[in-house]
Amino acid sequence: MKYDIKITKVKDSKLSTVDFDNIPFGRTFSDHMFVADYIDGAWTNLEIVPFEHFQIHPASMVLHYGQAIFEGMKASKGIDGKPYFLRPEQHSQRLNASAQRMCMPEVPEDLFLQAINELVYLDKDWIPPAKGSALYLRPYMFANDEFIGVAPASVYKFIIFTGPVGPYYPKPVRLLVADQFVRAVKGGVGEAKTAGNYAASLLPAKQAQEQGYDQVLWMDAHEFKYIQEAGTMNIFFVIDGKVVTPATDGAILKGITRDTIIKVLRAKGYTVEERPLAIDEVIEAHKNGTLQECFGTGTAAVVAHVANFTHKGTTYELPAIEDRKIGALAKESIDGLRALTIEDEHGWIVEAKPQAMVQA
Ligand code: COI
Repeated sequence: MKYDIKITKVKDSKLSTVDFDNIPFGRTFSDHMFVADYIDGAWTNLEIVPFEHFQIHPASMVLHYGQAIFEGMKASKGIDGKPYFLRPEQHSQRLNASAQRMCMPEVPEDLFLQAINELVYLDKDWIPPAKGSALYLRPYMFANDEFIGVAPASVYKFIIFTGPVGPYYPKPVRLLVADQFVRAVKGGVGEAKTAGNYAASLLPAKQAQEQGYDQVLWMDAHEFKYIQEAGTMNIFFVIDGKVVTPATDGAILKGITRDTIIKVLRAKGYTVEERPLAIDEVIEAHKNGTLQECFGTGTAAVVAHVANFTHKGTTYELPAIEDRKIGALAKESIDGLRALTIEDEHGWIVEAKPQAMVQA
């Protein structure tokens, strides 16, 4: 279905004020945003408007009970100069999985796709040209009833804004293995991309940073034994030539970059195991010299090498970055697919086109 999205363009673009060689993550916003309201059981007021502030009521339910979900995705420029997405429908599906868990309405996939296509095409000049840089898209939805009873809201806002970004982690990260705080528990909301998961991670991350680490390596909530995620990323280890990543078990975000990397590595002949992975197994592998690599993956980070991890006061150093073939291959594969310099065997790359350019 085609939606009627009203488009109001900015009078003066801010693009000329942006230094593409120096773009900190998450602080620069493009000219336009998509907005929609969910009222009386339907998405309405579908508009692309100049990026601007909006007002919400002090009793807006999201401010009290946290019904808020988001996605992180990227658009990039191919070597042909055109804008592209990588697996955009996966982000639509994950947003809707998060919506289900948080008792929120779904956004129809065709509306989501039409909105990101219109928006990115309109702001395509905001896509940074450098390899590894991209236009980050932040689709998000929140409860917006003016009511403070505890119940699922009936009114929601869905917004997508974008902004150019460079690499999220400029250097390899140092991880502190959690032994007190947990990020998520099976049966909870760890699999949903919901605001509260990130709020819960702030104090442990701050404490880790005060001790000189970059991020927390999250453990399972029952025994502090099985690895879950690293900071806001999924985590991969290479042990004795095999790639191992924790199986998603309800408490781990189903990363789209995680899934892409698993499929890319398997297609290249690597063994990738998705299974429970105990921190003791990783330490044992380090001790016997078979721990070869460790990297985090995420839309923002793409692939972030792990320099070391610290568990119960002992720091375990990983091999030199120059020797990390599989993490480097994973990163080059994603960057190359996005830039169109690597053949897209899976049909993942989709050109961003506004509705007017799509053949009926
Ligand atoms: C992403 O990788 O897009 C994320 O969601 C991480 C973000 C919270 C910075």
